[in-house]
Amino acid sequence: MNATELHIIILQNNIFSGLFVGQNLITFKQIGSTNTSLKDLLSNSRPVPEGTVIMAESQTAGRGQQQNRWHSEPGKNLTFSILLKPSFLSPNNQFDLTRAVSMGIFNALEPLLGSPLRIKWPNDIYYENKKLGGILIENILQGTLIKNSIVGIGLNINQDNFPLDIPGAVSLKQILHKDYELKSILSDICKNIEAAYLELRSDRFEHLRKAYAERLYWLNEDKIFRAGNQVFNGIIKGVKDSGLLIVEHDGAASEYNQKEIEFLH
Ligand code: BTN
Repeated sequence: MNATELHIIILQNNIFSGLFVGQNLITFKQIGSTNTSLKDLLSNSRPVPEGTVIMAESQTAGRGQQQNRWHSEPGKNLTFSILLKPSFLSPNNQFDLTRAVSMGIFNALEPLLGSPLRIKWPNDIYYENKKLGGILIENILQGTLIKNSIVGIGLNINQDNFPLDIPGAVSLKQILHKDYELKSILSDICKNIEAAYLELRSDRFEHLRKAYAERLYWLNEDKIFRAGNQVFNGIIKGVKDSGLLIVEHDGAASEYNQKEIEFLH
């Protein structure tokens, strides 16, 4: 950690009303990636409390799903990572953490955005046909336990426009035509992720699975997909407990992992 990059450290801050997510907040003016920096912090000898959040005003090497980069205009958006320790979750149920985090973000934003807000499987936050945010969860296993989970979240908040090479992005400001206080949205998101995570911790899987499935983008709509070299009409019917997407086409249901299927239109 470079001292000149460190902006403020607030321990036991009182902006966040939850029990632990966000209580320990570390803010950087500029850093490579908040996920990487949380991972680095974990590899130092001092213990890092569950719920620690690292946020950055600007990332120089923000990482997205599938080896993509995550671009975000400095100071305009939320880019942060939360440390969770879901050792109660069997690795077979890892996708339930994706559900909990997606639902936490969804529940924080839904009062502002209403029904056009959806979760695009597996974990993109969509408004109508545009991407408002994304999640990158990196689990660190110890034997069969998920010892640490680094939950990286990028949300477009106050950015006015996006480069032409990211045509599918949208910000809260573009939708609602006003600027938002980043810390206040962060606080709502932390509170809601904590609530969904506590549901998971108290074994309320079914409630979360149902809530997540009901909020899926393109659920029960006839759409066009690509799998391998096949382009076909299909209808999303839900998500398996394991996280595979269930798409019905030609009268039969097939299951796909993230690399196997692409949403076309
Ligand atoms: C996606 O591709 O949709 C996931 C994007 C995740 C981006 C966030 S920004 C904060 C955290 N740090 C990173 O390097 N990536 C995640």
